[in-house]
Amino acid sequence: MAAQQNEGAWNKDGRGLSIWDTFSRRKGKIKGNAKPSIACDFYHRYKDDLLLVKALGFKVFRFSISWPRILPEGTGKVNKEGIAFYNKVIDECLKLDIIPFVTLYHWDLPHALEKEGGWTNYRMLQWFSRYTTICAENFGDRVKNWIVLNEPMGFTSLGYMLGKHAPGKTGMKNFFPAIHNAILAQAEGGRILRSVVNKAFIGTSFSCSEVIPYSLKPEDVKAANRIDILMNRLFIEPALGMGYPNADFAFLQKMEFANKGWKYMERMSFDFDFIGLQNYFPTVIKHNPIIPVIQASEVKAAARKVPHTDMGWELNADSFYRIIKSFWEYDKVKNILITESGAFFKDELKDGIVNDEKRIDYFQQYIKAMHRAKKEGVNINGYFAWTLMDNFEWAEGYHAKFGLIHVDPETQLRTIKNSGYWFRDLLNGK
Ligand code: NOJ
Repeated sequence: MAAQQNEGAWNKDGRGLSIWDTFSRRKGKIKGNAKPSIACDFYHRYKDDLLLVKALGFKVFRFSISWPRILPEGTGKVNKEGIAFYNKVIDECLKLDIIPFVTLYHWDLPHALEKEGGWTNYRMLQWFSRYTTICAENFGDRVKNWIVLNEPMGFTSLGYMLGKHAPGKTGMKNFFPAIHNAILAQAEGGRILRSVVNKAFIGTSFSCSEVIPYSLKPEDVKAANRIDILMNRLFIEPALGMGYPNADFAFLQKMEFANKGWKYMERMSFDFDFIGLQNYFPTVIKHNPIIPVIQASEVKAAARKVPHTDMGWELNADSFYRIIKSFWEYDKVKNILITESGAFFKDELKDGIVNDEKRIDYFQQYIKAMHRAKKEGVNINGYFAWTLMDNFEWAEGYHAKFGLIHVDPETQLRTIKNSGYWFRDLLNGK
C-alpha cells in the first residue's frame, strides 16, 4: 500500500502538505472531486489493519513512507512524530511476524518542494538524498527490504508531461528534467541505503507493459517501438548502467540533448539487488501522425473487444508472463519481484459479502503465469497483490477499487472480500 492512498491524517502531528493534497483541491482534477485527506485512516487504524494482513496469511507487508510526514517542508526540520508513526508500524509488523517492505517514494512529494520545481529541479538529488538518509538511519535497523521509487515513469509522465496526476504539469520542458532527476535519485537512493543499512535488500519498481503493434505495417511497428522505449526501457536501462535507450527516436535525442548539460550522468546506475515489476495490461499501438512527438496512439481493449477490467485494462496473463521474461533478458537483472499486480472490478457488498469472482480469477491466472516464468528459469521470488484495501486511487478518486478488503469511505468499515479469503486459503496451502 502507499501512504498517500491509505493513511489520511493529512494534517495530523506535524505532517506537511503533499502535492496530492494541493492537487486534489483543484476542481475537476480528481473524479468526484475526491480528496486523500482521510482515505482509509490507516494512520489511526494501522494496528487493526495489520491484524487483517496477518489474518489473510501474508508474511510481507509493503507500504510507503510519506515524505511530508518525515520532513514537512521537504527539507529542513525533521518531524519526530512522523518518525514515531513509522516506528510504530514497523514494530507492529515485527511483533506480528510480518516483514516490513518499505517504499521510499510513492508519489507524495512535499508541496514545499514542488514550489521549487519538484522533480524538475536538479536539487532533487540533494533533497531526496537527505530524505533517504533519514529513513535509512531511523528505520534501517529493522527494515531490510527497500524499494527506492515506485513507478518513475508513472509519476514523471502523468505528473510532469500529461498533467493528469499531481503536480499537474505538462510538456517536455518539465518531463525531460523530471526523468533525469528521478533516475539520479533512484540510483543515489540505492547507494545511500547500501551504505547505511546493514544487510539491505534493495530494489526499485518499474511499471511495464508489453507493447504490440496494431498491424505489421512498418509505421505501426515503429510507433510501437517508440512507446516500448517510453513504457519499458527509459528508466531501467540507465539504472542498469546502459545509459538512455539507444534508439533512432528524435524524442530521446532531444532529451539527451536537453540533459547533456545536466550533472552526474555517470551516477544514473546502481547495482540493485532486485527489480520490482508492476504490470497491469499489454498495450496495442498504432501510428498516429496527429499526436505530437510520439506520433502514436493506443487502441484500447474495449475497441479491440478483448476481456478487460473495469479500468479498461486488458486481461492477459500470457502477456504478463512474456513481460516478465523480457525483463529477465537484461543481463544485469539478478532477481525480479512482482511488486504490484491486481485489478479493479466493480464490487457489490451484499449482506456483508463481496463475491469478487473476477478478481479471484485474475489472481489465479496471473500467479500461474508467474510460476510458468519461474519454472523456465526466471529468478522471481515474490508477488505483491495490489492492494490490501480499497483506497484513494489517485485521479480516479475512490471509485476504482483494487482491494482485497472492501472499505466504506464513510464509515471506514472493512469487509474482507472473497478474494481476500481466497488468498488466505492459498497461503495456508488449502
Ligand atoms: C500503480 C501505482 O503504483 C498504484 O499506486 C496504483 O494504485 C496502481 N498502479 C493501480 O492503478
